[in-house]
Amino acid sequence: MTYKRTLVTSALPYANGPVHIGHLAGVYIPADIYVRYLRMKGEPVLFVGGSDEHGVPVTIRARKEGITTQEVVDRYHRLISDSFREFGISFDVYSRTTSKVHHQFASDFFRRLYDNGKFTKLTTEQFYDEETQEFLTDRNIRGECPHCHSAGAYGDQCEKCGRTLSPDELINPYNAVNGNPLTKKATSHWYLPLDQYQQWLEKWILEDHKEWRPNVYGQCKSWLDGGLRPRAVTRDLDWGIPVPVEGAEGKVLYVWFDAPIGYISNTKELCDREPDKYGKWETWWKDQDTRLIHFIGKDNIVFHCIVFPCMLKAEGSYILPDNVPANEFLNLEGDKISTSRNWAVWLNEYLQDFPGKQDVLRYVLTANAPETKDNDFTWADFQARNNNELVAIYGNFVNRAIVLTQKYFGGKVPAAGELTGLEQSTIAEIKTAVEEMKRLLDNFRFRDAQKEAMNIARAGNKYLADTEPWKTAKTDMQRTAVILNTALQIAANLEIAFRPFLPFSSARLRNMLNIEELDITRLGCFTLLEDGHQLGEAALLFDKIEDSAIQQQLDRLERIKQENAAREKEEELKNWHPAEVKADTSIDDFARTDIRVATVLDCQPVRKSDRLLEFRLDDGMGGRTILSGIAQSYPDPSVLIGKQVLYIANFPPRKMMGKESQGMILSAVDADGRLVVTTVSRQVRPGAQVG
Ligand code: 2FM
Ligand code: ZN
Repeated sequence: MTYKRTLVTSALPYANGPVHIGHLAGVYIPADIYVRYLRMKGEPVLFVGGSDEHGVPVTIRARKEGITTQEVVDRYHRLISDSFREFGISFDVYSRTTSKVHHQFASDFFRRLYDNGKFTKLTTEQFYDEETQEFLTDRNIRGECPHCHSAGAYGDQCEKCGRTLSPDELINPYNAVNGNPLTKKATSHWYLPLDQYQQWLEKWILEDHKEWRPNVYGQCKSWLDGGLRPRAVTRDLDWGIPVPVEGAEGKVLYVWFDAPIGYISNTKELCDREPDKYGKWETWWKDQDTRLIHFIGKDNIVFHCIVFPCMLKAEGSYILPDNVPANEFLNLEGDKISTSRNWAVWLNEYLQDFPGKQDVLRYVLTANAPETKDNDFTWADFQARNNNELVAIYGNFVNRAIVLTQKYFGGKVPAAGELTGLEQSTIAEIKTAVEEMKRLLDNFRFRDAQKEAMNIARAGNKYLADTEPWKTAKTDMQRTAVILNTALQIAANLEIAFRPFLPFSSARLRNMLNIEELDITRLGCFTLLEDGHQLGEAALLFDKIEDSAIQQQLDRLERIKQENAAREKEEELKNWHPAEVKADTSIDDFARTDIRVATVLDCQPVRKSDRLLEFRLDDGMGGRTILSGIAQSYPDPSVLIGKQVLYIANFPPRKMMGKESQGMILSAVDADGRLVVTTVSRQVRPGAQVG
């Protein structure tokens, strides 16, 4: 150990909604497991969290709910911190970026960099709403996605296809709040010239931190390979920390500038409040013997590995992160979790539906932690892991060990005697699992570490199945004593092994075993419970989750899916603008295009193509075949048979999917992107010309 203390931060969630399972799996559970583990080892550690209360997401929520931004952050800060507490996320401090301490600290931090000439000021053209006289941030600009052409993509991302965007790429951008069209207007901002830190970052990350997770290292490398550009650290917005510079009225610090400073200001708030317990905040942030670890989700990598380190480096007196074990994303039933689309399992709702089952969710989310790739949360898996692992392996083992001891030994730990090969091999197996678990925890591999904890329970179950104390009790109480002593020692080991992962269950298990918290250095020992020690009451550590409870959750998701589809359709229609009229053409140009009417004789999907339909047409001239890319819009193409359609007759024949297409059927593009075949208002002779 080359450090004296560890400072652990976990991303500050936006106070614009409750927290969900994606947050828990990606950031807070791993951070909490790690912190609990370090505390168990007796290492000095500080766990810092808080709510991110600035930025556009909270202002959007305020508008949506028709309340003030302050009310939004008050409401969600409380809800989020309650959820974290209820799930046992053991922060030393959980504060908020609207606190006085933070405002002052972040403002001073900016000013220090400003005074030392660390920023450049640039004037650029930004999207502007003439009517409301405001510059719009990326998130408040919407328009058609240039990639998937869905309506209502945001200026920073399209939620339909997931691509990252810049507002300039949007087709027909408009103000997300009032639908107003936008113009461009010049505005000045301060930029952190990341390009000047490029070389330093290349060495610091690419050479000196090769041990970072491949996903983190890879993302940093691709940012660095792409060449860094200056980043604006201020915004035109009325919610946030005012830029502490004369002439910067109406501008605030960019939320991504102030939020990570929140880690420092929250530490300061805690240390100033309880200096005897926590010491000076500077020790945690400026002493080279402190190791700084950021737990975050993958969308935050660039800010924690590139931008924030540059801010700290520019300031000059801070330590830099030692590791940033970022997770990938957790999906829900195959779809991306989304706050705005209510596609999530919210922690507050989970607790209403599954009271007392915090550890079940902690277990399932760690077992499925998206450590190396995106993972999926499904309710079926949740139920299976509870019923087949927590109940059937861990809970069942502990219960049998205690109940049998009560039955045969009056609930007192029977004396250990001579061990047979069975005990020895079980103990060896458990010791190996323990060592492996510790190694994995030290390397931020929580998912596999938890598996090792479960392997201890597995070994215990197997041991009971092999030794069958309920049978030996009929003939050999001495042997039975050895078996149950061993089983109870395994149960006590499980209390320690599972404690970082499932703190509530370990507490219950301590009650059942009637013990205090055992030291982690004793993990792997088989003398944790003394002979004659009186156990507590046996209770079920976990109970079965029935199909009906799972079905309820699935029904809820189905309802949400339908509501979303209806709302998105409505939004698409509301926000639809006809495409601009093309440049002038002439009657001669038009006359060269031969548009005709034909009757559809047959219409079939083209094999192996999900796009093409094959039309057999009566064109009045002996018939022709046209392939048209409208299959997605006509799931049942037979509805077109007998209709009269308009088509271009003088396109040269073209091969598609090995078939020849002799023209082009004319379709209108509806607001939802669906193609609708054009037709005539009354029957005409096939071959009739349109003009
Ligand atoms: O992505 C988010 O939810 C941000 N609010 C995370 C901020 S992390 C840190 F910088 F505060
Ligand atoms: Zn898109």
